[in-house]
Amino acid sequence: MAEAKLIDGKAIAEALRRDIAGGAARFAAKAGRPAGLAVVLVGEDPASQVYVKSKARQTVEAGMRSIEHRLPADAAQGDLMALIARLNRDDAIDGILVQLPLPQSLDAGAVIEAIDPAKDVDGFHPVNAGRLMTGAPSLVPCTPLGCVLLAKSVSPSLRGLEAVVVGRSNIVGKPVAQLLLAEDCTVTIAHSRTRDLPDVVRRADLVVAAVGRPEMVRGDWIKPGAIVIDVGINRVAQDGGKGRLVGDVAFEEARSVAGAITPVPGGVGPMTIACLLRNTLEAAGRRTGIA
Ligand code: GUN
Repeated sequence: MAEAKLIDGKAIAEALRRDIAGGAARFAAKAGRPAGLAVVLVGEDPASQVYVKSKARQTVEAGMRSIEHRLPADAAQGDLMALIARLNRDDAIDGILVQLPLPQSLDAGAVIEAIDPAKDVDGFHPVNAGRLMTGAPSLVPCTPLGCVLLAKSVSPSLRGLEAVVVGRSNIVGKPVAQLLLAEDCTVTIAHSRTRDLPDVVRRADLVVAAVGRPEMVRGDWIKPGAIVIDVGINRVAQDGGKGRLVGDVAFEEARSVAGAITPVPGGVGPMTIACLLRNTLEAAGRRTGIA
């Protein structure tokens, strides 16, 4: 079989950001202010600092306002809750994102529940999770949304496809399964306790791998012609270097079997922030009644 088509997440995210920039300019003209995204970073986690910087840059490039709040790693729960309450009340803030993971000493669940669901651009609040499950309009988690947009870039209708999601996290596995169900897929959620995982994955016309284990999904697990969306970003050691990034799928093996596959990096990763910008603009529109 011919090599799989590469799904270019970078290019698709760029096109999406251009679209959003148009919408953001129209919003700013009508509202008399740009859409605003507040990002809260607690502590000094280096990966989180990189993400937050990238989010801020892309927010501004899309014509929106970025507000960053940094708290020390030993910040008290009460300080963080007070900041969220202030951002909830601030009319010029349309989206609030608290970068995860939070330091161990903080209760992330309580922080997420404190965010106004109308400003919850991560889509992690139980109200948005519940709305997604019941099919009501909601803010949808960014990475899952990116996965579905990438799958639809090669197959505009996903109706009737057997989809297997590997991973059951609240951030990716569970919400991506809900989105695929809404696209009329037949959805299986597999996880670390699933029996005969390779055989389960072999049934899939569409595989979403979101387990955080480098190259766990092997080429001989993939049904010929399947669409493979790899959410994993794992740094693995490499002689003499600072390591290389690999996904949850053994890419070289899988690309000779799959019909289409996302690379790592350059697949799902770039879509996440683009979807965050989309959610921010959507939240701004809904809150203000400006379409
Ligand atoms: N940390 C890693 N990914 C995410 C994300 O999508 N949202 C937030 N808030 N934190 C993250």
